[in-house]
Parts: sequence; C-alpha cells; structure tokens
Amino acid sequence: MSHDQAVEIEGLRHYFNVRGSLVHAIDRIDMTIEAGQFVCLAGPSGCGKTTLLRLLAGFMRPSEGTITVGGERVRRPSAERGVVFQQPMLYPWLNVRKNVELGPKLRGVGAKERRAEAERYLTMVGLSDFGDRRPYELSGGMQQRCQIARVLTNDPDIVLMDEPFGALDALTRERLQNELLDIWRATGKTILFITHSVDEAVFLGSRVLVMSPRPGRVVLDEPALFSEPGEQIAAERIRAMPEYNRLRERVRQAIQETPTAAAATG
Ligand SMILES: Nc1ncnc2c1ncn2[C@@H]1O[C@H](COP(=O)(O)OP(=O)(O)OP(=O)(O)O)[C@@H](O)[C@H]1O
Ligand SMILES: [Mg+2]
Repeated sequence: MSHDQAVEIEGLRHYFNVRGSLVHAIDRIDMTIEAGQFVCLAGPSGCGKTTLLRLLAGFMRPSEGTITVGGERVRRPSAERGVVFQQPMLYPWLNVRKNVELGPKLRGVGAKERRAEAERYLTMVGLSDFGDRRPYELSGGMQQRCQIARVLTNDPDIVLMDEPFGALDALTRERLQNELLDIWRATGKTILFITHSVDEAVFLGSRVLVMSPRPGRVVLDEPALFSEPGEQIAAERIRAMPEYNRLRERVRQAIQETPTAAAATG
C-alpha cells in the first residue's frame, strides 16, 4: 500500500427508521483500525456488526460521526474495500469464472492476466472444476466460496468479511482460515472479519473486538498476538498456548454478558 490506509471511526452512531420509529443499531464507536490489522469482530445476533461493516463499505452514511480511510471520508463503495457478504451475492447470469473475473475486467486487466488470477483463487477455494457453472448450480457453501474468490481476485486493500465461513463444513472452513492467514501474512491487507465463532476470532485475528447487544458498543478490544504478519506458527501450537485460551475465555464472557447480567454481578 502506497499510503497509510488506516480506518478512523469517530463518534459513530447509527439509527434505522423502521416505519416511523427509530431502531438504535450502533451506540457509539470510536476506534482506529491500523493498516494491516486483522480485526475479528464478534457479538450477539442483532448487535450491529453487519451495520458497522456496511457503514465501513460505504453502502450507507452513518446517522452521526465519521469514517475515514487514509484521511478520506467514506462516502460510497470503492473497489479498494472488498466486501464478502453474509449472504452470497453473485450475478446469476454469469458463470462462476466470469463472476470471479468481473472486478479485474472492470478495471481493464487483460483477459489472460485476469483469467490466471481468477484461476488462482478458484483453486484456493476448491472451485477450479466449477468455473463453467452458474451460481444457482452450486450449493450455498460453494456460492460463498465463489464470493470469497471474487473479492480476493479484485485485490482490495481492505477486505470486509461478514461471517464468510459460517456456511462451510469444518474441514473447508479450517483450510480457508489458513489460506486467508497466508494471504494476510503475504500482502498485509487490512481485514475486518465478522464471526460468531470465538475460536475463529481469537485464532485468526491480530485484534479481537466484541460488541454489546444492540445498540452496539465495543465492549472488548484486545490484541491477539498469536499470528503476527510474516510469522507462521502451527495452529496446534497456537491453540495450546495458555494466553490463547485465556483470551478465548474473556471473549466468550464478553459476548455472553448482557448489561443486566453485568449490573447484577456488580
Ligand atoms: N435495513 C435495516 N432497516 C431496519 N433495521 C435494520 C436494518 N438493518 C439492520 N437493522 C436492525 O439493526 C440491528 C443490527 O442489525 P445487524 O444486521 O447489524 O446485526 P448483526 O450484529 O449483523 O446480527 P447477526 O449476527 O444476526 O448477523 C438489528 O436490530 C436489525 O434489526
Ligand atoms: Mg450480521
């Protein structure tokens, strides 16, 4: 990355207007995501994780506060911020390969080069034999893998991923976790990764965030120093570390603690 692409979130609040009444989705978030961080975000269902991701992507404007990337206000979606949606989003009239090649094609990358890039990521997600299929001919998990390949082929500086591995079987999930870590270590991309799995959050992230129930605030923000950029430690070794398991426990508790439960225990 040529310049510092830190993400600055200041005084962020968000409300939805639902048939005349306001749903308070995000209470107040102030934080900086440094370029190259792998931030994992967990929290109970409905706490505002997807809302935060959509605001960062530029799909909508925050009700209050600002988001900047590299000092520039986020006002609209950008090819520099790739989004893996919670539900696979593919063009049904394009086959798998053309879906994956679309980003580079729109950026004017030549046919041969974009074909090679698409092939590389289709192989990575285990779909190299399915390039000619249409999305509706794939299972949900395969569609999700296709979406991941499409976003990575586009080579964005910032990758925003909303429970990308939620629909995958355990083995595929583990394989893609390791592939994503390899890509992060090799490229230093900034990643925001939403997950419901405490283990996944602590294993993948260089930093772990937990949001409170709606309206969402950040209630835990800790470094997870088990996999630094450039460094590769075996997964079994990481999972055997006492610090790893202590952080996992703190994250688990932060997710479970509701404001009422916290008040009751003082
Ligand atoms: N477009 C919308 N219109 C109205 N309300 C919305 C909209 N999108 C989200 N909400 C509300 O905002 C709150 C936060 O939703 P959000 O999708 O961000 O949660 P989440 O943390 O991603 O949950 P999950 O883990 O289930 O995906 C919820 O109460 C939801 O009903
Ligand atoms: Mg969500």
